[in-house]
Amino acid sequence: MSKVTIVGVGSVGAACAMAIVAQRRCSELVLYDVNTDLVEGEAMDLQHAYAFHGVAVKAANGWQDTSGSDIIVITAGARQKPGESRLELNGRNAAIMKSIVPNLVMHSHTAVIIVVSNPCDVMAKMVHDMSFLPPGRVLGSGTYLDSSRFRSFVAKRLNVDPVHVHGLIVGEHGDSTEELCDMHSCVVSSAQDIIAKRGYTSSGIGFTVSRLVDKILRDSHSVVPVSTSVKGLFGITEDVFLSVPCVIGRSGVERVLQIQMSPEELQKLRDSATRIASA
Ligand code: NAI
Ligand code: 2OP
Repeated sequence: MSKVTIVGVGSVGAACAMAIVAQRRCSELVLYDVNTDLVEGEAMDLQHAYAFHGVAVKAANGWQDTSGSDIIVITAGARQKPGESRLELNGRNAAIMKSIVPNLVMHSHTAVIIVVSNPCDVMAKMVHDMSFLPPGRVLGSGTYLDSSRFRSFVAKRLNVDPVHVHGLIVGEHGDSTEELCDMHSCVVSSAQDIIAKRGYTSSGIGFTVSRLVDKILRDSHSVVPVSTSVKGLFGITEDVFLSVPCVIGRSGVERVLQIQMSPEELQKLRDSATRIASA
């Protein structure tokens, strides 16, 4: 029996909800949004497919309905307009985090919190600091999505199954990421490309979050790039969250793997830390 709560049920929250129920790993999914019609409609729609997925889906009437969550996914907040960077969302979404995090933590002391709202690295650190949860229990979805995009682009170029393409993008889930090669540049621009065509991204992050939920609930000890505290690692001196390869399990990020990087990669990672620290 496990309970997952999603806070913010717009395009991203709805995509996460769909992917999470489809994987049938949790028994209960609670949806919370300030837009009560939206959240009730989303919960009803998903609940009508209960016979197929077997997950009890409920719209929260208040914070008490999120009590005892094993995992909380935060997707509430403003999204980018075409041409806008993720970092430009900082002020608006920081205010939303301040209004929701104390309420969430009061009702779920042992949850792992996955922060999706952008700028993801900045929000994840802010949620961690406000929550007073142990290190590792708050993580940002970070570059797990970028890594999936990278694998899909490499697979297409080489005409191989993406399942057999291995590689991690580390650092910032951002627009200002310094590009290392043309494939990496496709990854960095891909969210803006989708936003220009469709207004938002949702499916990629929905599947990314559902994979994280699965790995955490199974206590899998999988190695994935997610956003965590990196101060003191890889020569980073700033108190920031960035994505690095992490072992994740039932308590969130259990440890960071100090992988070998080239001097150029290390410098770019440190530059990312400096940029995020000044955001
Ligand atoms: P959206 O506008 O469709 O949905 C946002 C939802 O948040 C709305 O339903 C709104 O009512 C809700 N909300 C606002 N304030 C709230 C509060 N105080 N409590 C509860 N709910 C609240 O936006 P969308 O497209 O779903 O994007 C959400 C966030 O996810 C954005 O910040 C976006 O940039 C980010 N995002 C992050 C990705 C990542 O890889 N980290 C990928 C895609 C989007
Ligand atoms: C994404 O990468 C916009 O951060 C969002 O899809």
